Amino acid sequence: MSSCKVITAKTAGFCFGVDRAVKMTYDAVEAGKKVATFGPLIHNPQVVESLASKGVRVIDDPNQAQKEDTVIIRSHGVGLETARALEESGAEIIDATCPFVKRIHKLAFEYSSEGRTVLIAGDKNHPEVIGICGHCLGNHEVFADSEELTAKLKKSCENSEKGVAILAQTTYNIEMWEKCKRTALSIMPDAVICDTICSATSDRQKEAKKLSEICDMMIIVGGRHSSNTIKLCEMCSDNCKCALVEDASELYSIDFSAVKSIGISAGASTPAYIIKEVQTTMSEILKNQDEEFNFEEALEQTFKKIYTGKRVTGYITSVKDGSDVIVDIGTKHTGYIPASEISEDPNVKATDILHVGDEVELVVTKINDQDGIVTLSKKQVDAQKGYETILKAKEEGTVLTGVVTNVIKGGVLVASNGMKVFIPASQATAHRDDNLEELLKKTVRFKILEVNEQRKRAVGSIRAVAKEERAAAEAKFFETAEVGQTMTGEVKSITDYGVFVDLGGVDGLVRKMDLTWARIKHPSDVVSVGDRIEVTIKDIDKENKKVSLVYKKTEDNPWEIFKANYEVGQTVKAKIVSITDFGAFAEIIPGIDGLIHISQIANQRVNKVSDILTVGQEVEAKITEADLEKKRISLSMRALLPEEEAAEEEASEETNESAE
Ligand code: F3S
Repeated sequence: MSSCKVITAKTAGFCFGVDRAVKMTYDAVEAGKKVATFGPLIHNPQVVESLASKGVRVIDDPNQAQKEDTVIIRSHGVGLETARALEESGAEIIDATCPFVKRIHKLAFEYSSEGRTVLIAGDKNHPEVIGICGHCLGNHEVFADSEELTAKLKKSCENSEKGVAILAQTTYNIEMWEKCKRTALSIMPDAVICDTICSATSDRQKEAKKLSEICDMMIIVGGRHSSNTIKLCEMCSDNCKCALVEDASELYSIDFSAVKSIGISAGASTPAYIIKEVQTTMSEILKNQDEEFNFEEALEQTFKKIYTGKRVTGYITSVKDGSDVIVDIGTKHTGYIPASEISEDPNVKATDILHVGDEVELVVTKINDQDGIVTLSKKQVDAQKGYETILKAKEEGTVLTGVVTNVIKGGVLVASNGMKVFIPASQATAHRDDNLEELLKKTVRFKILEVNEQRKRAVGSIRAVAKEERAAAEAKFFETAEVGQTMTGEVKSITDYGVFVDLGGVDGLVRKMDLTWARIKHPSDVVSVGDRIEVTIKDIDKENKKVSLVYKKTEDNPWEIFKANYEVGQTVKAKIVSITDFGAFAEIIPGIDGLIHISQIANQRVNKVSDILTVGQEVEAKITEADLEKKRISLSMRALLPEEEAAEEEASEETNESAE
């Protein structure tokens, strides 16, 4: 056995943003496009050479972009001016700016729009920092460390009325950043500080630092122009001897003789195959050093064998909505689940179901050994498991739940157990005319009607479950419901003679006369479809499964109100509601009309009621009779006329009569 131990950092190699940019570039090349990258795609000479061998040009000025080009904006991003110039070149633009960098662009733009001075921690010559500066609309400055920050903050205290916002390059040294934050808050407590160091970077830095604390030597693999690779070296050099290598060939010039433990980490732009080469070469060097040690064999044993179609278990290392999910599958590949491979339900957000650290079962759908990328699918594993659940549910008649994801010709699709189950329109709703669109995004309960085992397709029925549930609810209703019981239901439909109310399993009828005490033209004057109303059971016909309901309330009975508040002899204000040959009906309170007989309208003879009264007119009258049993009220306007006038009127009537 070798006396030298080698530990490779889990976080070594391509980060999510670089991985994404490389994939986007290779996809464009494979699609036959004439690809140019704006600046070297990544800080790794081998990858850049490999792309050049495939005809990919590197341009560094928008003027070099030609109309027929497809220009890739690398993960570092560009400023607004450059982006505009590239658009104007007429070339197709593929923006592979890392989403974490884009977030900084947004912050820089917003804070500078507010008038704040934007201070950026980083290397002012780094393309990412140049791009961030290109999104600042006003004052902005770059600082390298807390000393420079102190000077710039003091200047800002004097010049900036709106304050400052402090951001960091995604690959900035995390320890220096913490120091800068303390400095900033001591000088300007109201400074806005945005933690924009990428977690991929900070995780890689933390792990490399830990390794450097326990190892005699660190090998950092990466480009000599890669800022995050250089930073890894700087951090590790504090704890042990540290060597930066661009590829495996550089290992031969390093002396490993006195070394007992070696740590390996790599920058964000280092492809997995270069790390693998470094490990293999190191194995050879160590083998020569120590004949007994078979490093490569030991190394191989730590690698899992993977192939397309293999089910693997991985741990989520990064999850963001709308982006690929990054997974550690225990190999040197970067595993990722494209957003479209997360769930069968397109409405599900990645962060709803996946969290950093979660263990997930996945299936390998594609391996790109050259770039060290493995594409994985969660939804395929879910579908395989779901298919078994669905088969079982059919056999046992189990009720399943799922979310309606699509309304298609002839029915809806429900995402359930990682599968899409088709529900024909005739099985989707309780009534044939119901709108299928209303089911969209709703959780539904359904049963499986049939499964096509060859095509792995299933057909289900929501109606079957609804029917069973309704039948059970109906049986329970008739078992427990009693006349006089009050319940709440939903108005399902309105007819000329009344309204049907869904009591949950049973529809009851409220006849028009039981809706309200007031006079109405149509039941829709009182309720609308969809209203939830409180009703009382008036009658139950268990044999014919019919229920009569009352909506009007006893306490609103106008005869009771009349009895409590009015009496014979009392003067009331009433509104004429109808006119007949023998008199007029006047409303005293809603639901109670009194008759003013033609002889009780005036002192003189009235030939035609409408000569004196009109519908809607308000009059004063005396209650002369109230028969509550027969529900008849008599009113008299005449009884309120002054006696003198009445006498005069009578005398004049008499005179007229004798003259005749
Ligand atoms: Fe993006 Fe972080 Fe890499 S910012 S490019 S994922 S180091």
